[in-house]
Amino acid sequence: MQAARRETALGPQGVPNPRSRAVLLCGKVVSVQASRPAAKPVLAPGQGRLTDLPSTSPALPPQECYKAAEQFPDVAVDEVISDTFAMRLLRDPELPSRRKQKMSLHRIAVIGGDGIGPEVVEAGVEVLEALAAVEPGLAFEFKRFDWGSDYYRRNGRMMPQDGLAQIEDFDAIYFGSVGDPDLPDDITLWGLRLAICQGFDQYANVRPTRLLPGLTGPLRPELGQQIDWVIVRENSEGEYAGVGGRAHRGLPIEVGMDVAVFTRAGIERIARFACDLAMSRPRKLLTVVTKSNAQRHGMVLWDEVVREVVRGYPGLTVDWMLVDAMTQRMVNKPGSIDTVLATNLHADILSDLAAALGGSLGIGSTANIDPSRSRPSMFEPIHGSAFDITGKGVANPLGSFWTASLMLDHLGEQAAARRLMVAIETVTGRGESLSPDLGGAARTAEVTAAVIAALEGVNSTSSSRLAG
Ligand SMILES: NC(=O)c1ccc[n+]([C@@H]2O[C@H](COP(=O)([O-])OP(=O)(O)OC[C@H]3O[C@@H](n4cnc5c(N)ncnc54)[C@H](O)[C@@H]3O)[C@@H](O)[C@H]2O)c1
Repeated sequence: MQAARRETALGPQGVPNPRSRAVLLCGKVVSVQASRPAAKPVLAPGQGRLTDLPSTSPALPPQECYKAAEQFPDVAVDEVISDTFAMRLLRDPELPSRRKQKMSLHRIAVIGGDGIGPEVVEAGVEVLEALAAVEPGLAFEFKRFDWGSDYYRRNGRMMPQDGLAQIEDFDAIYFGSVGDPDLPDDITLWGLRLAICQGFDQYANVRPTRLLPGLTGPLRPELGQQIDWVIVRENSEGEYAGVGGRAHRGLPIEVGMDVAVFTRAGIERIARFACDLAMSRPRKLLTVVTKSNAQRHGMVLWDEVVREVVRGYPGLTVDWMLVDAMTQRMVNKPGSIDTVLATNLHADILSDLAAALGGSLGIGSTANIDPSRSRPSMFEPIHGSAFDITGKGVANPLGSFWTASLMLDHLGEQAAARRLMVAIETVTGRGESLSPDLGGAARTAEVTAAVIAALEGVNSTSSSRLAG
């Protein structure tokens, strides 16, 4: 098929033409539904170039779209494009001629989950759509999965049995939170979030923290401003390996055990990941958190293996902290910390402290990464379902937006990631659209609108420090 024209189905004023209708197919294809076969172009070139394409069924794959168009000699397809890009074309028909680079379409599985999860994730999708509208070459296809506690009430499980198979071909997973006041936390967490993290071996959990411009955390300003950390959490074993059991239920001799599992392979790979990340940051400084004074087996192995790995990074400055002492160092000497490596449990706790020191739990973001990239990585705000504010429209969506920026970075969209971060920082810096947890009065929708407005005012060359 010869490349020739690009079609839109709207007239010059953006009014749908009565004989043709734009069909935006599942984010993959833009075509025009013809009222009769082989219809002629309705608008002359220069007027917006409206051309009819054959009628297609929804979700037609790109090659089928080309094939269908072949039946119509007066129709040519130059490219199959996403609906996000189609939207941009409708606003700006000259865009293709100004832009030669190929568009990258990212397929994102969206799992809002429970509580405020769906609220902040939908706000994030809105922001990402707006970003795609201003950032050249960026496009998304979002597919929602209604998994979580309501799904459990209907189906007796948090996600379908083949849930992992349903999302394994996506480029990334954008996740909200999980947890329900009426269901045990271990069922909800293990049935969905941990099932995905462990099922996809997302063994590196990365949690950046900075005091964003305009925000004041609980520390004195001169200390708070020193916070610029990335916590690397081992995400596949350790204290959350799920090994253990209960016995003698209900009897006085009842026992419950969780066995912390540390393996040489598991420690080695997360240590290597943390060293690489630390080396990519200007300070090249890694703090390794441990508790080997009290836990004599797994944590001693942790120390030994991490020591072996860091020997391979002569340019890296490494120091060691017991986890209890690490909490006071984060509060008293935040500027002495850069990249932190800790076990599953230790980093879980330290990163909530980090988020609070950064202003609010509502800002914290995290990436669950499979560094081999053989399966999708998952991106989520660090907070939970926040039962106390669910449905009130006041959840802070900034953590979810920061998370989206981490996702973009992972997808190789560094310019877009930077642009989103600059927009977030613009909004916090102005201080006008902050949610109640940050001392403001803005609702989730207002914070979202402010970030979208800021996105349109910044470009990808503006400066921001990305997470890691
Ligand atoms: N990754 C996850 O899915 C995840 C993480 C933590 C907790 N949880 C689950 O969430 C449920 C509630 O846990 P929790 O209360 O300990 O922690 P939480 O993070 O849900 O809430 C703690 C406090 O922080 C506030 N908060 C959290 N996020 C906020 C936001 N975006 N904007 C404004 N305020 C925010 C809440 O209102 C609450 O007062 C539990 O079921 C827990 O297991 C899930």
